Amino acid sequence: MKPAYKRILIKLSGEALAGEQKSGLDFDTVLKICASVKKCAEIGLEIGIVVGGGNFWRGRTSGKMDRTRADHMGMLATVINSLALSDALEQLGVPVRVQTGITMSEIAEPYIRNKAVRHMEKGRVVVFGCGTGNPFFSTDTAAALRAAEIDADIIFKATNVDGVYDCDPKKNSNAVKFETLTFLDVLNNGLQVMDSTAASLCMDNNIPILVFDLSDPDNLIRAAVGEKIGTLVK
Ligand code: GTP
Repeated sequence: MKPAYKRILIKLSGEALAGEQKSGLDFDTVLKICASVKKCAEIGLEIGIVVGGGNFWRGRTSGKMDRTRADHMGMLATVINSLALSDALEQLGVPVRVQTGITMSEIAEPYIRNKAVRHMEKGRVVVFGCGTGNPFFSTDTAAALRAAEIDADIIFKATNVDGVYDCDPKKNSNAVKFETLTFLDVLNNGLQVMDSTAASLCMDNNIPILVFDLSDPDNLIRAAVGEKIGTLVK
């Protein structure tokens, strides 16, 4: 199998790591996802991962708290997930490094762009924790930012729907899936692919996003070899 890209940024939602429990970590699910990441690494793809924290905490919906502090808690949640991913990848024999956007050097390397690129060139997966390291930014925006910084060819946004629809496919059986979209479609129509900050960053830096369903973890390898799945936003 030949990879369709040189370097990819995988955006995983925190919920994807929770499995059936919907919150917290289900380590078997984490291992399953990492086994697919391993397959992508084995065909020669350079891989960065940004993970959300929603399986533990969501800053923006906490409501009763100061937003900045709530977002700091969300960033810590992404670090828990990053460490879980790195542990699972290591167990599977995949070399991995964790870098965090807020320095916590006793736990992980600080985020240094050139070092991240060097790790990937050496075949290591790099997991980026803490989102962008700033409150008021989503981990989707962190994925867009890190993808731009490391010159990723594409962002794989692995979610729980198999693409982008014109309306909610769970509520409307006539919902139509888009095969491709432009970032302007996403921004103008308020499609729920990602927030507008993330979409603008990708648009301005020409980074396409492939949205697909991770409940079948093999979709990751399908996407990596360029099979037509999900919805491509470009
Ligand atoms: P190269 O030797 O440059 O190819 O990379 P390397 O990551 O193997 O070497 P390095 O000496 O930088 O790191 C060795 C180990 O220490 C790796 O597991 C790193 O992730 C880890 N490490 C490096 N810097 C830090 C840090 O600031 N904090 C923590 N917690 N770990 C670090």
